This record gives sequence, C-alpha cells and structure tokens, in this order.
Amino acid sequence: VNYKELWKLTAADGSEYPIDDVRWRSDEGDLLDIAFRPLLEMVQPDNAFPGLWKYKDLLPVFGLPYIVSFGEGDTPVVKEQIGGTEFLLKLEYLFPTGSYKDRGASVLISKIKELGIKEIVEDSSGNAGCAIAAYAAKAGIRCEILVSVSTSPAKIRQLEAYGAKVTKIAGDRQAVANAALEKAQTAYYASHSWNPFFFQGTKTFAYEIAAQCRDNFPGGIVLPVGNGTLLIGAYLGFAELYECGLIPFIPKMIAVQAANCAPLLEEPGPFAPTIAEGIAVRRPVRRQQILDIIRKTGGTVITVEEQAIAEAWSQAALRGYYIEKTSAAGWAALAELPAQERYLLALTGHGLKNT
Ligand SMILES: Cc1ncc(COP(=O)(O)O)c(C=O)c1O
Repeated sequence: VNYKELWKLTAADGSEYPIDDVRWRSDEGDLLDIAFRPLLEMVQPDNAFPGLWKYKDLLPVFGLPYIVSFGEGDTPVVKEQIGGTEFLLKLEYLFPTGSYKDRGASVLISKIKELGIKEIVEDSSGNAGCAIAAYAAKAGIRCEILVSVSTSPAKIRQLEAYGAKVTKIAGDRQAVANAALEKAQTAYYASHSWNPFFFQGTKTFAYEIAAQCRDNFPGGIVLPVGNGTLLIGAYLGFAELYECGLIPFIPKMIAVQAANCAPLLEEPGPFAPTIAEGIAVRRPVRRQQILDIIRKTGGTVITVEEQAIAEAWSQAALRGYYIEKTSAAGWAALAELPAQERYLLALTGHGLKNT
C-alpha cells in the first residue's frame, strides 16, 4: 500500500491538493483540512517508537528520518474525586515545553522538515509558540514567533531561549494574527490554528485515551478552548477510531471558555481580559468547525467566571496539580457538568510558566 495515497489536503469548497503540496491554505485563501481514512492495519501502535510516534502510521509524515521528537506523549490519566464525583484527568502539561501543544508541534515540524522548508513564522499567546520554537530548534529550522506585548514574560523568555526571533506586537490577539499573516507571504506559516498538520498531532490525544481508558472510556471530554486545536484534534482521532470500530462511541466534546471571552456562544457578552490567557481568543479561525463538532458529538459550551477560574486553580494546586490558569478554567467547569457521564478533563498547561 502506498500510504501517501490515503491522504489529501481539502478545502470547504471541495478543492483538493496533494498532501505534500507546500501550502497552508487553499488557492482561494481558505482553511485547509486533511482527509484521511485509516486502514485497520495502520491503527496498530508500533512500540519500537516512544510516545505519540508509536502511531506513526496514522500521521502524515512518510519518512522516518524526518521525525522531530523528544519522545513526547503518553501523558498519564489519573482519577480524582472532585465535588463528590470521580473525574479522569489527563496530565497534558507534562510535555517537554510545558503544554499539549508539543503534540501538534512535533508532527507539524516533522512535516516541515520533510517538505524541506527552512524558515517559518507563527503567532501565539505563548504555549503554541514555545512548542513550535523548541521543535524548530531541534530540527535546525529558522523560526520567528509573533506575540502580543501582554504575553507572560516567562513564555517570552522561553521562546528566546530556544533561539526563536520574537516579535512583540502592540494590540490585541487579532493584531498579532494579522501581522503574522503579513509575514506568511514570504515564510511558511506554521500556525497552530491555520495549519492542518498541527491537528494531526493533537489527534494523538484521542488515541492515547482509547488505549488508556479501555475499561472506563469517557462519555465526555472537557477542554479549555480558544482556537480549538485540542478539541478538533481529539475529534479527528476519535472519529478515525470509531470508523475502524475500535471505540464504542465518540465522546461528547465539552468546550470551556472564560465568560469574559466566549466567542463560541451565539451571543457572547462584551469581551474583557481573562486570567485564562491561553483561551483569550476573540475570533477563532475555525469557530464553525468547533461548533459543528460540539453539535455532532452532543457536547456543549460552558463559560466560567474569573473568580471561579482563580478558585479552581487553588483547588487544583492544593491537590498537587500545578497548572496554568487557562487549564484551571476546565477544572472550574466540572461543577457545571450534567451528572450522567464519566468525564475526562485535559489539564493542558504547566503552572510554572504562570509563576
Ligand atoms: C494551556 C492551554 N490550554 C488550552 C489552550 C487552548 O487551546 P486552543 O486555543 O487550541 O483551543 C491553550 C492555548 O494556547 C493553552 O495554552
């Protein structure tokens, strides 16, 4: 089997491009997705490879020498009683750069290396940029990261330490994204929200859950959502496994947003700053895709107030989970969930960056 034949870049208007086309959007300038239906034999993990790369046959990188990896993945799932209910927590802050974004960065930068690209640009509230910068450093790829002037100093120092060129942009997140789109005219846009290869990395979150929770497969996945890179990736992974008959159903996707910044709501309130900086995204480019997934899976959007996020952060830390405030938004939403499901909450980012 030529596995490459199973993959295509696609756009909403029906246009298709070969998987190895050097592009991150369609000729019309629209978002790209990746169409892929695995063969059953591809789903078998190859335990000779550590972490998420044991699923290499399900990832669109075709040459082993191009894999850029620190052995990331296989994050633990632990049980915790919270407010009298047992939850599964997946410790997605235990990654080389301190957040689950390493899943996406490992696959995207590997693909970029395979395509022979030498220079990339990315914009990020911090964590995605750190992940892209670290993997670019390992791959020897030049990298410029655009951040908002309000990004945590610890994240900016981490970016600089990896050798990335850091450009601070005054204005909101949208101003940063616009500046990146401008730069993307000349450098390849390694964007965690635009680039479809990033989501091929985050889908490994679902594969791991299926393997780790065989006897207690969750009915709902609770995630803090900004651009939706984990939510969309998780759905892609679960959908592949479901189509292969390997999981009983696709879990409900439950998106958590700060009440101060909740663009997934039909009628969001006025936007205001939030301590959950990772999800302070006012105009997620894949908003419609996120909403479609929530609807298809029977999920929902939960919003949480600043006070509840701060309290949840303390509650988590007092139990030994030192997470970002962004991740604490997910914890704060647990009290709002309908009781009939078993839920898995992703703790997405490490608290040390917020210290
Ligand atoms: C720690 C953390 N959690 C969750 C998110 C939300 O991810 P996304 O914007 O892809 O939905 C981010 C994004 O930066 C993050 O840094």
